Amino acid sequence: MRASQPQSIYLKDYRKPPFLIDHVDLRFELFEEQTRVHSRLQVRRNPEADGAERDLVLHGEDLELETLTLDGRPVEDAVVDSESLRISNVPDQFNLDVVTCIRPQENTRLEGLYKSSGMFCTQCEAEGFRRITYFLDRPDVMACYRTRIEADSEQYPVLLANGNPVDHGEMEGGRHQVTWEDPFPKPSYLFAMVAGDLVEKRDEFTTGSGRVVDLRMYVEPRNSDKCEHALASLKKAMQWDEEVYGREYDLDIFMIVAVDDFNMGAMENKGLNIFNSSCVLASPETATDAAYERIESIVAHEYFHNWSGNRVTCRDWFQLSLKEGFTVFRDNQFSADMGSPTVQRIDHVNMLRTAQFAEDDGPMAHPVRPESYIEIGNFYTLTVYEKGAEVVRMIHTLLGPDMFREGSDLYFARFDGRAVTTDDFVATMEEASGRDLGQFRRWYEQAGTPVLHVSDHFDAEKGVYTLSIEQSCPATPRQPHKAPFHIPLRMGLLDSTGEPLPLDDIGNTEQVLELTESRHSYRFKDLKERPVPSLLRNFSAPVKLDYAWSRDQLMFLVSHDPDGFNRWDAGQKLAIDVIQSMLEGNDTEVDERLIEAYRNLLTDTSLDRAMVARMLALPGTAYLIELTRDADVQAIHETRQRVQTTVANALREELLAVHMRNQSSEPYAFSAERVAARSLANSALSLLTLIGDEAGKDLAVEQFRDAPNMTNRFGALSALVNSPFEKERDRALEQFYVDWQDDPQVVEQWFAVQSGSPWMGGLKRVRELLEHPAFDWKNPNKIRTVIGVFAARNLVHFHEPDGSGYRFLGEQIQRLDASNPQIAAGLAQPLTRWRRYAPRLRESMKSVLEELLAEPQLSKDLFEVVSKSLQ
Ligand code: ARG
Ligand code: ZN
Repeated sequence: MRASQPQSIYLKDYRKPPFLIDHVDLRFELFEEQTRVHSRLQVRRNPEADGAERDLVLHGEDLELETLTLDGRPVEDAVVDSESLRISNVPDQFNLDVVTCIRPQENTRLEGLYKSSGMFCTQCEAEGFRRITYFLDRPDVMACYRTRIEADSEQYPVLLANGNPVDHGEMEGGRHQVTWEDPFPKPSYLFAMVAGDLVEKRDEFTTGSGRVVDLRMYVEPRNSDKCEHALASLKKAMQWDEEVYGREYDLDIFMIVAVDDFNMGAMENKGLNIFNSSCVLASPETATDAAYERIESIVAHEYFHNWSGNRVTCRDWFQLSLKEGFTVFRDNQFSADMGSPTVQRIDHVNMLRTAQFAEDDGPMAHPVRPESYIEIGNFYTLTVYEKGAEVVRMIHTLLGPDMFREGSDLYFARFDGRAVTTDDFVATMEEASGRDLGQFRRWYEQAGTPVLHVSDHFDAEKGVYTLSIEQSCPATPRQPHKAPFHIPLRMGLLDSTGEPLPLDDIGNTEQVLELTESRHSYRFKDLKERPVPSLLRNFSAPVKLDYAWSRDQLMFLVSHDPDGFNRWDAGQKLAIDVIQSMLEGNDTEVDERLIEAYRNLLTDTSLDRAMVARMLALPGTAYLIELTRDADVQAIHETRQRVQTTVANALREELLAVHMRNQSSEPYAFSAERVAARSLANSALSLLTLIGDEAGKDLAVEQFRDAPNMTNRFGALSALVNSPFEKERDRALEQFYVDWQDDPQVVEQWFAVQSGSPWMGGLKRVRELLEHPAFDWKNPNKIRTVIGVFAARNLVHFHEPDGSGYRFLGEQIQRLDASNPQIAAGLAQPLTRWRRYAPRLRESMKSVLEELLAEPQLSKDLFEVVSKSLQ
């Protein structure tokens, strides 16, 4: 057990900052052993503070204080502890000069200033700035920054910080300096600096008002041919934000830097976005289509933060979803506009239902606006990001696009340059639209996924169809009872020929029902026959829907629902029903109707190929687990596998034809059309190898050998890895590594395809990967692609009934906690879901958590996750 219990921080305890800092002047002296940080702060008492504080208390962690002067006079009686610096009886307004010494070279947490393959870089969100210098490190303290960086000219020719360069020059001893000034006041979490030997890739963008913005990407020289896609994505995002939200970029320079060691995906520092290399670097030879898509959306996400996050920021970290939920919603809209909206929605909902619903159903469940935390780093969650985005989407649905735009315009205008709350956001939407979102606010306050129980009745004599809908929401930690949510339910009714039926006097065939009570019933009149309901179209609310569709109705919806999302979802529901009834022993064979549905998909060439690829994929094992109490992972995996092989065996010829039809000899293009064809061809290929088809094997070997791009090459590799063809698999894996060993992003793919494969012998293989020369305990991407992917995706082996997978994960978490607590706490996620599994699995997961909790040196991060999941 930890020596001292870390304290929780509560939203209800929020107080305005007692002091404000208007200006920050920083000077970094970068050296190989240590870095000296000179900081001059212009401080004044906050006239709006609640109560007059005599002492100034600054945040600071792992800093060596060298000198401290207030208005030029040394401060003798400052009190320093492990988290703060206190100066008593300060005047109303003063300059504070602080010199601290830090050791970026030894910073393995990757928070604050650290070194990553020879370059210096920073990550300050949420609370990393306090590891650089003493500061009021909270987002409601906004200052203008001037940053001077001094370093060796040869080793670090490129020196970057936020804003615009205002000065540079040579210094003695082969050193140089560059000074940057950011004219926009910002919270400390948006501070960034970089120093390294980097190449610069330039582009430009002309804004709507005719200003030319310099776009610059900085990467290590070996990556200079991997910048094009990110720069193209950036320009698209800039254009889109002007068109859809009326938001222009505001500085003369926009910079993106790629860093190999990074805890998260990317960071929106003002004017200087820093990215995990895997979320920004791409070339057709090294990156798959999936990576191209991910990069496009993350580049856009970070860019969109310039308005939703930077210009208008969060008052405190409980409001994190103010910027993250809104920005994820914006990047989802953007991706939908760049490709197929239906496919984008399917992919997003699939992830939400699999992972966010599980989080919302577990011991770490928390509202979109959490009420308390021990370590804020643990709250960069799917709930804050993805459910937060769904909440904004529901506002968009309730208000309609025009009113929503009026609301967002008002929001940006009113709160520009300020730090505000999710409530301010909702209130602005209310004001612009005249709608009452009072009850809607419960989406921010109550955790848990609501369930809609739907039943219906048709009165044939009167021609009246009645839909009865009841909502409920399970208890979550510290929230035993829930009040009803305000839920927009988009729906329609179809007649037996598949025609949409008019729902009102005007003839609308689609409606958004607004559920606000625990029970509602809706009557639809003048119907000649019992209609088939199409409910929750486009997934209009993040809820679970419980309605007893028959398999025939689902088959009917797969081909007739005018809503593309619901067509896909009907197929998923059908497959789930088939798998579940086999699991429960009610069915012994795979329902022919499922096979017929797939046959139609494969032979109808008029269908959107990206859609077909999505529809071909059975619901994932993780989602099936999420739908089951006392989940027996082995049984679920085996049953799913059986359904998959039965379908594939029945459709062998069709799969071969689909693979053939979707080849192209044209050079790589990242277009929706080509991406769809490649994804369909690869899906077909992997089904063929999965069933041990010889022709499929030959195709995979050939595709692997001749692939002109990484999507085809990796598709073939993955098909071989997940197949009984061990010889071909091992050969391909070996060749792939030989070819790409010098490219970290490709090696990460290589790790992931093995650690995530149920075919590769599980734990033994994963342990070998940990010993592999390319594995690096200091690199989060390697840790995630080997250990994280094993626990999250290789479910049969992670949940080995002897508990070996759990113990393995426990060991790795414990080892990593000392060097990188954020990563260690993240890896513990799969264990927190222990209550969902069959009793035997449950007990051994729990005992691993208990062993971790017994550790005396546990970080705050890991302590919070482990202790809360055992409560
Ligand atoms: N704001 C960044 C983003 O949206 C994520 C930064 C997360 N940082 C952290 N320490 N958890 O994409
Ligand atoms: Zn973000």
